[in-house]
Amino acid sequence: MHINRIFPVLLLSGAVFTANGEVIKSPDGKVAVDFGVKDGRPVYSMTFDGKTVIKPSTLGLELAGDTDLMDGFCLKDTEVSEFDETWQPVWGETRDIRNHYNELLAHLEQPSTGRFMDIRFRVYDDGAGFRYEFPQQNNLTYFVIKEEHSQFAMDGDHTAWWIAGDYDTQEYDYTESKLSEIRGKMADAISSNASQTQFSPTGVQTSLQMKTDNGLYINLHEAALVDYSCMHLNLDDKNKVFESWLTPDAQGNKGHLQAPTHSPWRTVMVSDDARDMLSSNLILNLNDPCAYEDTSWIKPVKYVGVWWEMIGGGKQWSYTYDLPSVKLETLDYSKTKPHGQHPANNENVKKYIDFAAEHGFDQVLVEGWNIGWEDWFGKSKDYVFDFQTPYPDFDIDMLNDYARSKGVKLMMHHETSGSIRNYERHMEAAYNLMNKYGYNSVKSGYVGNMIPRGEHHYGQWLNNHYLYAVKEAAKHKIMVNAHEAVRPTGLCRTYPNLIGNESARGTEYESFAGNKPSHTTVLPFTRLQGGPMDYTPGIFEMDMKKVNPDSQGHVNSTLARQLALYVTMYSPLQMAADVPEVYNRFMDAFQFIKDVPVDWDDSRYLEAEPGQYIVAARKAKGGDDWYVGCTSAENGHESDLVLDFLDPGKKYEATIYADAPDAHYLTNPQAYKISKKKVNAKTRLKLKAAPGGGFAISIKPLD
Ligand code: NOJ
Ligand code: CA
Repeated sequence: MHINRIFPVLLLSGAVFTANGEVIKSPDGKVAVDFGVKDGRPVYSMTFDGKTVIKPSTLGLELAGDTDLMDGFCLKDTEVSEFDETWQPVWGETRDIRNHYNELLAHLEQPSTGRFMDIRFRVYDDGAGFRYEFPQQNNLTYFVIKEEHSQFAMDGDHTAWWIAGDYDTQEYDYTESKLSEIRGKMADAISSNASQTQFSPTGVQTSLQMKTDNGLYINLHEAALVDYSCMHLNLDDKNKVFESWLTPDAQGNKGHLQAPTHSPWRTVMVSDDARDMLSSNLILNLNDPCAYEDTSWIKPVKYVGVWWEMIGGGKQWSYTYDLPSVKLETLDYSKTKPHGQHPANNENVKKYIDFAAEHGFDQVLVEGWNIGWEDWFGKSKDYVFDFQTPYPDFDIDMLNDYARSKGVKLMMHHETSGSIRNYERHMEAAYNLMNKYGYNSVKSGYVGNMIPRGEHHYGQWLNNHYLYAVKEAAKHKIMVNAHEAVRPTGLCRTYPNLIGNESARGTEYESFAGNKPSHTTVLPFTRLQGGPMDYTPGIFEMDMKKVNPDSQGHVNSTLARQLALYVTMYSPLQMAADVPEVYNRFMDAFQFIKDVPVDWDDSRYLEAEPGQYIVAARKAKGGDDWYVGCTSAENGHESDLVLDFLDPGKKYEATIYADAPDAHYLTNPQAYKISKKKVNAKTRLKLKAAPGGGFAISIKPLD
């Protein structure tokens, strides 16, 4: 499956020595990282094509107790090497991924404590990563991190696309502002979600996308977040210096480590072309190769589900009344009266199975199938949900048989409501139940404050839990799509059964409050850098009052743009999130969702600017069809595309799903026009996306 061509080569010439230390360059020579120890402190800086990306910035860690790993260092030795391999992801945007970098490993010693620490840099053509490594040693075995102090000094007041720092939610709209404006805009930025844990008036989350006045795109994030706390960035807005700010545990500590170990990678992606930010594989490449020998059971998934009826339609996950006056564990469901608004029932689920089978979907998600939802916000959180007992109106045996008979699978749902102890206690039995009935994927969720109380969604302890859930699932050949879990950092390379995460503001917010029209032009630059998102696109009814008279929401997108998201928001797991009744009204447009693949051999980003537009083209896995998608913000977008990615000499037919000339995301979102056109590699297509609009194109060879 994974035939890697690995050519580790030792560079004979070594690195170049400068006043600061040593310079290590990317294979193409454009990215340069300068590292050294100055006055006892590790210092690095970075340039792209001679332009400053990171000004001299210090590195180090503060430990609990009276010592730290901040200063008093001397540079003992350095090792330089080159690495070049091409690997094949189990699923992905492209069939092959090249992992080519030059590496500098710096061995540091802190003579006053007799401790050793290494810092490893990998320099790619599109950026660099570095991490701290703590080799086995006598004077540093178990240690507690008080704070990591990795600095990223910016060379100006860049424009940034950011969300507020928060230990428990990422479900924010992005704000575009200068770095100097973050403090002033923080209150507004937070109001797009009820923040649970604000830690600083200038704290932001990663992945953070920036643009400099001299045309560089810079992105800060992390890769391979394992057994460590998730990193935020705190900005010194006077000097424009970001510094790492880790998520604390319930005691306020930021990490419990045992040497030998290492931190996650801190990543700095850079280019003078926004499209390179989107096609970069730097974060995947900094993760370890696939940990599983057999990956044949991991399959991309296109699904529908019993979901939007609750999220947008006001129906219930629960079977009976919402807040029981009896303790949930003593509630006898067979004796309680249903409230009649429970879509996870036999008849309705069969309807979705029929719809999925008719239109070629792989799976049907059913939320609200299991007992416990009466109390899911946590009055008796430790007892809620066993992930095994269906409600009386959900016949798990019959429904899985029925699905199987139609060539469809049901998708499992585990809402943990943040009660980790409860989830881990039931996990093995819950996965066994899935195996028994033939489920092979689970959407899990972590809504609400964590139990154990005081732990945060992005702390080390929870990060270990999310990975535990994924690895245990693999033992049962189960794929995981975790909502509200920590933002991805490329771990899907190592554990490809992690086929999705939410971990950002998804389509559900369109029904609660609406997302900014620019949202989907930012997410691929930020959230998607670490891995795919279960964004749940495909909403065709934008006026939420028509879905639920009590709704305050509006879907801030045209219908054509909803189609485009299947291409622009890369994911091997894609939902068609609206309800069958709505799709039945727009079957001509729905055809695109039926056709669009969820796995690809090739991907090209044709046009892109964060906050404004993204146009992507992708080639179907194992096929000759291409799909193009454009998402735009308030101002719309005029595309001028040359289809030179097509096979020269081949003739194709393009089906273009475009905004009608009078379409507008607010006033006329359902106005679209479908047209057909013969195209080839020389065809130039000029297309217009309406405000908050977009377009989608399927291109199939004419034989
Ligand atoms: C929030 C998730 O994002 C949503 O998809 C899910 O339906 C609810 N939690 C309930 O688990
Ligand atoms: Ca969510």
